[in-house]
Amino acid sequence: MFAADCAQAEIHDPQLKAAYKTCHDYLRSTSAEEFWCLQLMPPALRPAGWALLAAYSLADDLADTTEGDGSQRLREWREALDTDLRHGTSEDPVRQALVHTMWCWNLKTAAFDVTFTALEKDALRTAPAAATWQQWRTRSKDTNVPFMLQCLTMLRHAGLDIPLHLTRLDAYQRLSDGLFLTDSLTDLADDLDRGDITLPTEELHRFGVCETDLLQHRWTPAVQALISHLLNTARTWLDQPQLWTGLPPGPAVVLRTGCTLYRARLHAAEKAGPALLQHAARPTLAARLRITGPGRLLAATTWRLFPLPELRTAPPPTRPVLPAPRTASPELPQPPEPHADGVRPPALPAECMPRHVAIIMDGNGRWATARGLPRNDGHKAGGKALVDVVHGAAEIGLPHLTVYLLSTENLEKRPPQEIDKLLTFAREQLESRDFLRYDVRIRWAGLPDGLPSDFVDLLRTNQAATEDRTGLTLTFCLNYGGRSELTQAADSLASAARTGQLQGTRVSEHLLRSHLPLGDLPDVDLLWRTGGEQRISNFLPWHTAYAELLFTDKLWPDIDRRDLWKAMTQYSHRHRRYGAAPASQPVVPAQEARLGTSG
Ligand code: IPE
Ligand code: IPE
Ligand code: MG
Repeated sequence: MFAADCAQAEIHDPQLKAAYKTCHDYLRSTSAEEFWCLQLMPPALRPAGWALLAAYSLADDLADTTEGDGSQRLREWREALDTDLRHGTSEDPVRQALVHTMWCWNLKTAAFDVTFTALEKDALRTAPAAATWQQWRTRSKDTNVPFMLQCLTMLRHAGLDIPLHLTRLDAYQRLSDGLFLTDSLTDLADDLDRGDITLPTEELHRFGVCETDLLQHRWTPAVQALISHLLNTARTWLDQPQLWTGLPPGPAVVLRTGCTLYRARLHAAEKAGPALLQHAARPTLAARLRITGPGRLLAATTWRLFPLPELRTAPPPTRPVLPAPRTASPELPQPPEPHADGVRPPALPAECMPRHVAIIMDGNGRWATARGLPRNDGHKAGGKALVDVVHGAAEIGLPHLTVYLLSTENLEKRPPQEIDKLLTFAREQLESRDFLRYDVRIRWAGLPDGLPSDFVDLLRTNQAATEDRTGLTLTFCLNYGGRSELTQAADSLASAARTGQLQGTRVSEHLLRSHLPLGDLPDVDLLWRTGGEQRISNFLPWHTAYAELLFTDKLWPDIDRRDLWKAMTQYSHRHRRYGAAPASQPVVPAQEARLGTSG
């Protein structure tokens, strides 16, 4: 079977085959359920799956080994991968297969960065630290989502585009959580051996479980109740038929069977009882075969009836997009470019500086029309204006700049040619990796639905590549809608309530905010719209609730950093009261006050 899969994937070189064999055997012995799930994919895709999954599971092992510095080992492995990717091969078998896979399928390294960074952070912990649900969920996302996205990219290259539906974001997260919780429960004994508690603290408290009992592998009634509750929770999260009913037939069989395999692990954990604290729980061979036997038959028939549209042969190897080489002492980001005229930012008193400026960059179309040019030329000129404003923001030391590039309404209502051009300009900017040279952290807010998936990848890659930057946070609102953002928060809250994570909790502003996609973005201090219109156009309704508003007439392409500094200077003269009375005015008129004191 191994040889046949390699032949289908056009892997003929003996050394390369040996590298894939290492991944294949490693997974088969360490991650049987995941391995058998990969075997449900069309044969030509399986070797790539082995390489990817072997790399992720090896990373987990590197982080978990108790001897030495796990984070250092991870960093070295990741750096070696960058070097190997440049050379197109490796001395290390897992990396050799991985490099070949990444070249063939043009996969980005950013996905590894997300997982490796999360694992590095975990490995740095010295004391056992249980995580809150929120931290636990971030770990779940960082561990599972990059691998899932890479699988989706491969399917897309094979002609099967599976769009991620916004309305199902919660269901995707629950699936990732279900897989992660199953791992946490079935591998509990190993984690406890390392002094690690991988179950959420809120649940430990709710069931009155004492951490020491767990760490000493004591099966108390409280531990038993906690485990039983979490097993049920994981089971519910893995049982979401709506996820596979909406998928094309092939991926649907893979996902459904994969979830069944994971549920079998939960069943094994349940049967293990107190032994769950002593060793990892896995389904028996017979139990696994009962699932994978029919699963493989069904998958083979389904892929024959509904083959991958463009998978005739493996795609030709292409060099993946690589980040700049990492060096032992990473180069410091460059300072922002000065303005061509040598103008310098005004010195605003620190207490009058806005922390967060948000801009509705309006007027591109009118600017072009006034010059007898097509609207697209206005968008191109607008792009240049934005670059200057970003440098100006970094120069004056603004911590947060959020810019409205495209609203959900724009995407729906403007001609496709205009949207296409707008995205092309944005794509050129992102691909040039220009902002990456400066201390700028790029973030994207908006919906993936309706955007080309490689463009979404590009946004995410830029986001991941700049995640650790501490200078200006530049948030691109692109295919963004404020009402949709609030609706997502409400939906996420409702689902948290449904799955019992909000028990006894009232909905506070803090809680609602924590469910917003941009919950950690600070409130906007200054909302500035150029182009003469005076409206908000569905921009950041939550974050601008107390923003100072500024509407100026100049059209966006005519703007440069000096206008930003002027806007910030105007802001510095505003008096913000947040509902209080002006400090300089008496609360009651002088006459009444006098009467009051004399009577
Ligand atoms: C803002 O400029 C950019 C986008 C909405 C994408 P417009 O394209 O709205 O320009 P006007 O308002 O038509 O001049
Ligand atoms: C809002 O601009 C969105 C952006 C600036 C990207 P529009 O110019 O489309 O706003 P409305 O629809 O006219 O209010
Ligand atoms: Mg407009």
